Amino acid sequence: MYRAAVLTVSDRSARGERPDGAGPAVCRMLEQAGYEIAVTAIVPDEQTEIEDALIRWADQLGAELIVTTGGTGFAPRDVTPEATLAVCRRLTPGIPEAMRYASAQITDRAMLSRAQAGIRGGSLIVNLPGSPKAAQENLAAVLPALAHGLEMLSGRPADCALL
Ligand code: MTE
Repeated sequence: MYRAAVLTVSDRSARGERPDGAGPAVCRMLEQAGYEIAVTAIVPDEQTEIEDALIRWADQLGAELIVTTGGTGFAPRDVTPEATLAVCRRLTPGIPEAMRYASAQITDRAMLSRAQAGIRGGSLIVNLPGSPKAAQENLAAVLPALAHGLEMLSGRPADCALL
């Protein structure tokens, strides 16, 4: 069983002004897919706070999957992709490509997500948009394939020929 960590990035939720809908929804989907939720947190749209959580969860906790929700749009304070790029050693562009491709079948606003995904050590970090609906739609597009990626990341021999 892989351990997942879920980071909600939202100024208003961090201040307690808006309940966090996306974080719990993402956790439910991950649990249904067989992941153990190791930790969750809410941080404001501050790049250093986002980076600190990602680094801690990757380097100290060793969570195999780290999912963020929120802060991927065009608002001046949307910096989750920049924080993700700053802490990842290798990028995994196919994941946001797949999310935006699937989401474009639902809304043309899918193109407005600047979500990134990448690898730091043994952890895969994936950005999702912030609304519960958008977060769930984006995660649903990639979740079935993630376990195979995590298997390869762990160094265990993964047979790509087996579907
Ligand atoms: N993707 C899906 N599947 N469904 C959505 O409703 N909303 C879009 C986009 N991706 C959306 C989506 C919108 S309106 C925005 S602004 C971006 O995600 C970024 O969202 P964020 O700023 O909450 O991270």
